[in-house]
Amino acid sequence: MYSRVIGTGSHLPERILSNYDLEKMVETSHDWIVSRTGIVERHIAAENEATSDLALQASRRAIESAGIDVDEIDLIIVATTTPDMLFPSTASILQSKLGIRNNCPAFDVQAVCTGFIYALATADCYLRSGKYRHALVVGAETLSRVIDWTDRATCVLFGDGAGAVVLRASETPGILSSHLHADGSHSHILAVPGRICDGKIQGSPFVTMNGHAVFKIAVNVLEKVATEALLANHMSPSDLDWLVPHQANIRIIEATSRKLGLGMDRVVVTVDRHGNTSAASIPLALDCAAKAGRFREGETLLMEGVGGGITWGALLLKW
Ligand code: ACO
Repeated sequence: MYSRVIGTGSHLPERILSNYDLEKMVETSHDWIVSRTGIVERHIAAENEATSDLALQASRRAIESAGIDVDEIDLIIVATTTPDMLFPSTASILQSKLGIRNNCPAFDVQAVCTGFIYALATADCYLRSGKYRHALVVGAETLSRVIDWTDRATCVLFGDGAGAVVLRASETPGILSSHLHADGSHSHILAVPGRICDGKIQGSPFVTMNGHAVFKIAVNVLEKVATEALLANHMSPSDLDWLVPHQANIRIIEATSRKLGLGMDRVVVTVDRHGNTSAASIPLALDCAAKAGRFREGETLLMEGVGGGITWGALLLKW
């Protein structure tokens, strides 16, 4: 048994924050941001927009494109680093907003920018086992809420958004394999260290990052996990039709495509318009490419991501 993507959807908040807008907020320039990251603009959620609201719009579109009824969903997994609240899970809130009344399990996965790969791999295990037939897997973030907008080293990088897929259990592939990793010894290089204690926040509630360290590790582990996924399926990079990478930084994406020997015309890039939307970045990129008709049935896609934890992972699938 396999699981197949049968529908995709995404949603971006209306408000766009351009590099020129950022020039008015911190000491930076459009040219610096583009040359170091490839980012031109990002979307920012409105004050009254929660992560579950972005997830709701993306999910509705994914369910519609899958052509199923909401009550046919029998598993919901939301990957997010910026949940609506400490609890209940954003997945539970999403289930209610979607009007699903079949009491299907709903839970969040927290693996920062690798969250969507972790969530998809988890759903794939459930569907392969025959336990469930349709899973809704979402990556949704309101990263703007944990950004220090006076810190130019981090505020230029991130954006808000959501992407979703519907997976169906299937006799034909489908997801071929998933490869998940973590190395908690690097947890300090990218974090929101704050915690709630006795009604107060202890520690910083904003993203703190050692950009150089993250960059070096990201390029290294992405190459390794791509090779691992290909080897596990007796494939070589020439068997790949598409790379759908986490959209952190164009330089990281280009380094991975160079190492795989895959032309950039075969790499889905949305970082210029979305910025880094953490767990939402891969499903957002997937939906943009799918809706643009770039993927053909039977083509081989490699999705891969790296993020805080440090976590990283890859997933190989047939479209
Ligand atoms: N505008 C202008 N100048 C800036 C800015 C800015 N927004 N931010 C930093 N600078 C300055 C620095 O202060 C430094 O000045 P100095 O030389 O006078 O000290 C100079 O630019 C160079 O800074 P570096 O940190 O060396 O710049 P670098 O080329 O490494 O780019 C960046 C920084 C973009 C953060 C890079 O390290 C990177 O992409 N790292 C990966 C981080 C990442 O992608 N994080 C996302 C989360 S993790 C993930 O999703 C994988």
